[in-house]
Amino acid sequence: MLRQAKLIFSTAVQLCVSLTLLLNFVVSSEIQLGSKISVEDNNFWVSSNGDFAIGFFSYFNLYKVGIHFNSSSIPIDKQTVVWVAGADLKVGNKSYFQLDESGELFLFDSDTGITAWTSKTSNASVVSALLRDDGNFVLLNKQKITVWQSFDNPSDTLLPGQNFSASRVLRPPSNSPVSSYYSLYMGDSGQLQLRWETSIIYWTSGNPSQSAHRAILSADGTLQLIDQTSKSIWSIFGDDHNDSNVHFRFLRLDADGNLRLYSWQNASSSWRSVWQAVNNQCDVFATCGVHGICVFNESGLPVCKCPYMPAGEFNSKCLASSDENCDSGSSLILYEHTFLYGIYPPNDTIVHTNLQECKTLCEKDPRCTAVTFINNGTPQCRIKNTRYMSGKSDPSLGSISLIKTCSDPVAVLPQSPESKLIQKSLRKICIPCLIGVAAGTFGIILVIQLCAGFYFLRRRKYIRKKTDFSNVDPNTGGCIMLSYAEITELTENFKLKIGPKVFKGVLPDKRPVAIKDLATSIEERKFRSAVSKIASIFHKNLLKLDGYCCDSSNRLLVYEFAKNGSLGDCLEDPKMCKRLTWRRRISICLAVARAIYYLHTGCRVYVSHGNLKCENVLLDDNFEVKVSEFGLQTFLSEESDTEQTAEADVRDFGKMLVKIMSGSQNADDACEWAYEKWLADQSYEIVDSRLEGSVSSDELQRALRIAFWCLQADARMRPSMGEVVKVLEGTLSVDIPPPLFSHCHSRTSSEGKLESNAESG
Ligand SMILES: *[C@@H]1O[C@H](CO)[C@@H](O)[C@H](O)[C@H]1NC(C)=O
Ligand SMILES: *[C@@H]1O[C@H](CO)[C@@H](O)[C@H](O)[C@H]1NC(C)=O
Ligand SMILES: *[C@@H]1O[C@H](CO)[C@@H](O)[C@H](O)[C@H]1NC(C)=O
Repeated sequence: MLRQAKLIFSTAVQLCVSLTLLLNFVVSSEIQLGSKISVEDNNFWVSSNGDFAIGFFSYFNLYKVGIHFNSSSIPIDKQTVVWVAGADLKVGNKSYFQLDESGELFLFDSDTGITAWTSKTSNASVVSALLRDDGNFVLLNKQKITVWQSFDNPSDTLLPGQNFSASRVLRPPSNSPVSSYYSLYMGDSGQLQLRWETSIIYWTSGNPSQSAHRAILSADGTLQLIDQTSKSIWSIFGDDHNDSNVHFRFLRLDADGNLRLYSWQNASSSWRSVWQAVNNQCDVFATCGVHGICVFNESGLPVCKCPYMPAGEFNSKCLASSDENCDSGSSLILYEHTFLYGIYPPNDTIVHTNLQECKTLCEKDPRCTAVTFINNGTPQCRIKNTRYMSGKSDPSLGSISLIKTCSDPVAVLPQSPESKLIQKSLRKICIPCLIGVAAGTFGIILVIQLCAGFYFLRRRKYIRKKTDFSNVDPNTGGCIMLSYAEITELTENFKLKIGPKVFKGVLPDKRPVAIKDLATSIEERKFRSAVSKIASIFHKNLLKLDGYCCDSSNRLLVYEFAKNGSLGDCLEDPKMCKRLTWRRRISICLAVARAIYYLHTGCRVYVSHGNLKCENVLLDDNFEVKVSEFGLQTFLSEESDTEQTAEADVRDFGKMLVKIMSGSQNADDACEWAYEKWLADQSYEIVDSRLEGSVSSDELQRALRIAFWCLQADARMRPSMGEVVKVLEGTLSVDIPPPLFSHCHSRTSSEGKLESNAESG
């Protein structure tokens, strides 16, 4: 009985499957206007030989639509995607792909509710579509002439028979808002070129005497350059060239920046790479990003190694030890058989000298981050002044690299014996400060005790020699504890108010400070712990915490004073606003971005800003940025529902960018308005009309594009602060942003919840 039921069931399933296949075949031969495939229906358009199909496939919890191999001789998990509509475009789970009545092929994204991609053929009299047997998806007019084809819009792959010419580009897919840095072009000289960004060409196809017209991969596995007269002028092929057992091949620019020719091996049931453009993967430019040194492991596979960190851990400090100058001095660490090169900028300074002199040059130059010494007949010392570098290491390499690292922090500042003692204890404070959470309560108690000890010492000195306040080194992380009475004295009884709950004060050494009354009764232990953590964060664009007051119910923070006040006030003040030139605004944006990037990645404990806005960006007398209020949300907030994610900071930064460029008072409305203007190609109307002088259109485009990426309602779409910095620096290109859709309206708790769902799911 059960067996019978099972049999009936399985027959039914089989019938269903074959019916679906049949249905697909019926649909496949010619796709009529109005036809559609969707994520929900999970249907496909199939080529008449069944070798290729076009349909949705899932990609990092979202979906893409594209053409993939469909032959029954290839297992489903190896049915590689060869073309994607809109390349890096990802859509929601109710999306569909349709050939509409006007003859336009379009992709509707259910997540954003808009058309995410179209073939732009509504005026081309398209009457049908067809997925050809060679994997080319074509739109045809009444005369059966191809008016649009997927072969003319390649993603990362070329199939046999597909032309590749000067206006085309292959680019690997990217899972971040910025496209992959790698691309394949046909250069002006008619050669194929692999490029990193637009400037670095790390591979070219031979050196043909004649200029090529197009490149083509033939069915027998030859990649050729063809001239105007259809003559082959250059070609390469893999070891299975001419092998009649191979039915499927493709050429793909892989995510690692290498161009490879693949063929399907029936025997092993796998795709085999039969040729690759760059023989040694470690020679692909920036193959390890700024993430270290490319080496081959025991199994002969390229891996990225970070000299300073445990295996597998990378961050921007992988090769350059610190983004700030080392206060405690530096030393050079030697790596044999290692070659390093700058990425931003890519060119090293070359000096012809010996190794010893090379080392000395770097030691003496504070900007030098590393050197590589090579001797190929003439000794070469390649000096790097950038933290963005990459490298490779191999026992066969004769080059030697020296990387500058900060020495361990020790009190080396020349001072009186007494203050040396203080310095030492402050250094001790700082280490547990930095270790932060890990050090836990013990660290906090130690900090409090040492702070208190310092406080007494300072007080004795203060009493003895009323002006010795200046002896406090601004870099020690020393948190000066002040009594409420002292605060009252410093501010002359809170006489000068310079912001909401912020007062100006003057320290005994005449240094002005800004004193913020937190107006909270936060628990003393928690407050002191927060103070010690905030005081241990240094960056030239973050407002420095000089001290605090924790008397009975008073909780105040003493910050360095920024003469020009907040950026918000400056933008509203007609006179100050004039002084905020375009150049200045761009450098302000970049400085804020760098400061937030540092908060997100440079501190031992993760810190979000939590309340980024123009009012919290202060400017000193040189218009140098000092971001204030950082860490308060992370360390002091008692509400657990406030958004404290990096993504929330990125969105707030996007809002701020729009406000700084437009000078607009209401950032929320300005974002959508700015996006509309930008979309309508009226970017200049966004720019603050009070701005005199020139605006760089390139910078404006970059800033707007990255701002709109930051403002994406879907937090997963937003870039990281590191990417924002690079885009503003001009060292990273930025794609056209999709619509913001559900606005840049300020935070709602529901959005916060969505984000945490997305992370856990
Ligand atoms: C579809 O996506 C929405 C949000 O984008 C999600 O809430 C829902 O669970 C998804 N449905 C399925 C069937 O995955
Ligand atoms: C490739 O280019 C050649 C020469 O221009 C042309 O004859 C051929 O039809 C093209 N193939 C495709 C698929 O577009
Ligand atoms: C490939 O095979 C064809 C026919 O079998 C032959 O004419 C041709 O010379 C071969 N090419 C190479 C490069 O072996």
